[in-house]
Amino acid sequence: MADMTDGAYSKIVRGVVNEKIANSGLVIFREMISAEAIVRENEKTEEMAVIDDVERPVIQQIFGADPKVMTEAAKIIERKFKPDGIDINMGCPVYKMTSNFNGAALMKDPKLAAEIVSAVKNAVSIPVSVKIRAGWSDPTECIEFAKIIENAGADLISVHGRTQKQVYTGKTNREVVARVKETVSIPVLYNGDIFSWQDYFEALKETKCDGALIARGALGNPWIFSQIEQMSTNIKPDKIILPDRVVIVLKHLDLHLKQYGENKVSTFRKHLSWYFKGITNFKKYKQQIMTTNNRDELEKILKEIAS
Ligand SMILES: Cc1cc2nc3c(=O)[nH]c(=O)nc-3n(C[C@H](O)[C@H](O)[C@H](O)COP(=O)(O)O)c2cc1C
Repeated sequence: MADMTDGAYSKIVRGVVNEKIANSGLVIFREMISAEAIVRENEKTEEMAVIDDVERPVIQQIFGADPKVMTEAAKIIERKFKPDGIDINMGCPVYKMTSNFNGAALMKDPKLAAEIVSAVKNAVSIPVSVKIRAGWSDPTECIEFAKIIENAGADLISVHGRTQKQVYTGKTNREVVARVKETVSIPVLYNGDIFSWQDYFEALKETKCDGALIARGALGNPWIFSQIEQMSTNIKPDKIILPDRVVIVLKHLDLHLKQYGENKVSTFRKHLSWYFKGITNFKKYKQQIMTTNNRDELEKILKEIAS
């Protein structure tokens, strides 16, 4: 997720899962980065692609619409940052992306989409996956589109069961994702509205997919992956109590400050809103939390919340 699933977040997720469960089946998909920016050697974009070994396996997602630029970027990323795979974004619905024919706009041109997949696949030695939506406007478009992507050489497809037109409205269409799974022989990951470990198992049962991508349900909730792992190995999933939450928030905060600089408390606030969503005690302190730029003061307030 753009601006959210960075190195600091990846380390937190990995730490939470590994502390509780060995042999985790968790694969982290990093936030999308611009292929063009990578080719231009944009420093900020390059920093976004840095992977620490403790985060692996990590897939780096890229976006772009020019097969040559996408190929060049994939080669550079493989060489410089060594991700465990490259994912191509063909699902982002936002105007800033689709107006340049990036993201979900590529679903309107299957020929170009296939050209990109095939070029990237031929250029790198690591697996190449593609993230798509149910369609641009018709939710059944993904069935034919997924077949085209598979034939172009993709190793895995993830499908968010909403169309571009829906953006985030309405329900995700699990039926069409199940049909994609029936149609292709490469692994398919279901995506959309998984907010708890219960949702995960329900979605897999309904779609028969090989796994699922969890996005918003993982924000402020890195435990969702360890809970799924626990459930998969017949262990009762942990219930996360407030003091445990605060311990992880503080670890995440310090990783964030290490990555972006000691004075970057302000850019961590987006995570705080997710971590404390719906927690009554948080409301009382919200004003203080959302205005302080001091790490130690923030720690003091968070510990007060947990006490
Ligand atoms: C803040 C935010 C950033 C996102 N950034 C990306 C991204 O970089 N790449 C991507 O494929 N999807 C991105 N998405 C979409 C999610 O990956 C996912 O497809 C969508 O939120 C539906 O899944 P969910 O119901 O589990 O959230 C983003 C979503 C949000 C809310």
